[in-house]
Amino acid sequence: MKILMVCLGNICRSPLAEGILKHKAAQRGLDWVIDSAGTGFWHAGEPPDSRSAGIARHYGIDITDQRARQFKPADLDLFDRVFVMDTQNLRDVLRQAQTDEHRAKIDLILNQLHPGQNRSVPDPYYDDDGFNEVFEMLDAACEVFISRHPEAP
Ligand code: 4NP
Repeated sequence: MKILMVCLGNICRSPLAEGILKHKAAQRGLDWVIDSAGTGFWHAGEPPDSRSAGIARHYGIDITDQRARQFKPADLDLFDRVFVMDTQNLRDVLRQAQTDEHRAKIDLILNQLHPGQNRSVPDPYYDDDGFNEVFEMLDAACEVFISRHPEAP
């Protein structure tokens, strides 16, 4: 299973989603490929925002080795599922999809928790207090996803 997490900058939300799902996959002994990317290019090459790294560390997850990169259309061939954080990310990624198979891989990550509601993970970039809430949302959504997957014990 290959999963890509996508947000705008790839420094706040999707690095957390990547770290959380990697942690859960490792705990279950699942050999999954999990990566993240941003629809924007501004932060390419940068490590995660220190506030994301801090909240991850608080929950026992180290995301400091990650480096931001920009989403590319070939990711829709490389990955089995592409989870986006908000409805703007959804539009930006869908615009780059070429086929129905591509489109079927893409979904808002919170639809794992609240099917069909198309809720967004709020962008915490300008909200220092938002990181814990974002972590908890992503943790819950990743837990639902991995527990529903047939490879999970
Ligand atoms: P992210 O957050 O999409 O969760 O990584 C943001 C990071 C940077 C910016 C916006 C959102 N920015 O405008 O630079």
